[in-house]
Amino acid sequence: MRTAATLALFTLVVATATGAHAPTPLNLKNRLQDKSWSAGRSQLVGVGASDAACSAVLSCADCNTARICRPTASGWEIVQNITCPSDQPYCDYSTGSCTTVPDATCGQTDNFICLENGHFPDTNCSEYHVCEGYQAHKFVCSIAGQHYNADTELCETGQCSEFTPCTEKGQKVDNDIYKSYYAYCNSTGEPTYIQKCPGTYQLNVTSQSCEPICQEEGVLQDVQDCTKYYKCQYIYIDDETKFLIRELLDCPANTGFDPNNYICVSLTEYPDCKTELEEKKRTGLVKDET
Ligand SMILES: *[C@@H]1O[C@H](CO)[C@@H](O)[C@H](O)[C@H]1NC(C)=O
Ligand SMILES: *[C@@H]1O[C@H](CO)[C@@H](O)[C@H](O)[C@H]1NC(C)=O
Ligand SMILES: *[C@@H]1O[C@H](CO)[C@@H](O)[C@H](O)[C@H]1NC(C)=O
Ligand SMILES: *[C@@H]1O[C@H](CO)[C@@H](O)[C@H](O)[C@H]1NC(C)=O
Repeated sequence: MRTAATLALFTLVVATATGAHAPTPLNLKNRLQDKSWSAGRSQLVGVGASDAACSAVLSCADCNTARICRPTASGWEIVQNITCPSDQPYCDYSTGSCTTVPDATCGQTDNFICLENGHFPDTNCSEYHVCEGYQAHKFVCSIAGQHYNADTELCETGQCSEFTPCTEKGQKVDNDIYKSYYAYCNSTGEPTYIQKCPGTYQLNVTSQSCEPICQEEGVLQDVQDCTKYYKCQYIYIDDETKFLIRELLDCPANTGFDPNNYICVSLTEYPDCKTELEEKKRTGLVKDET
């Protein structure tokens, strides 16, 4: 039984789907901004259970349910769940509207648990997950010989990465290629939850924490303080023996370390750092010397 209100809202969903006098629906393909999917190198094969917090006006709650959401001061809220009617029983994930054809992902779920939003490699290197609004979307690389590259976020011809198998519960294990990703172990064998270290930090398997780890000479971001950076440098003992050492250095006054360009830039060109610094001054974490 559908109420008059549901019918009115359902009509809105259909009208939006046909594009007549209605705002353009937020297209899943644009919203997810997945490069391999756009380039035809991967296929969306499963969508995770929707988080109560949606992130678009129209979306699918599941394969047969569309939902209408609205933005509020504290995020999005569900206005109504609409079970698709028998003549248009399927919800299309790209438009959030009811249609006659089942979506490719219909009935397929992604059980990946989104701990944060972004792109994540899977324990199977042919698969990866995109989390948006804490909802998981499972992709499979569709071209033979291609694997997911977590650095470029693309399916590419290249090595198949692997997470170290778990030997004990509660442990964090690393990935053999993409060192800023790690996984939590729920039991022995295949790890359960996949996560990313902040910035360019990597999992130190010994300390079990994300750290700035020197791989070669150069500079690294300090994720705790945007006005500092780490310098990695070789110390030569003799011709044969050298050590890579790490030093924490300050950027010059009124500059901050830009992690994309690996240099200290003026705070006026780096508003996020300026805000971070002002916030620290406000909360008394650093002295205000101005
Ligand atoms: C819509 O469905 C979700 C999940 O089934 C539920 O948590 C939520 O309360 C429902 N919202 C409304 C407005 O019916
Ligand atoms: C990895 O994923 C692909 C695509 O889903 C699948 O065909 C393959 O069997 C999986 N490999 C393993 C070892 O599970
Ligand atoms: C974690 O392990 C417990 C049993 O030890 C199991 O009940 C639970 O489903 C596992 N969680 C996941 C996400 O695999
Ligand atoms: C990893 O952590 C251990 C223990 O805290 C430490 O001794 C070691 O130097 C760290 N490794 C790197 C590469 O930073």
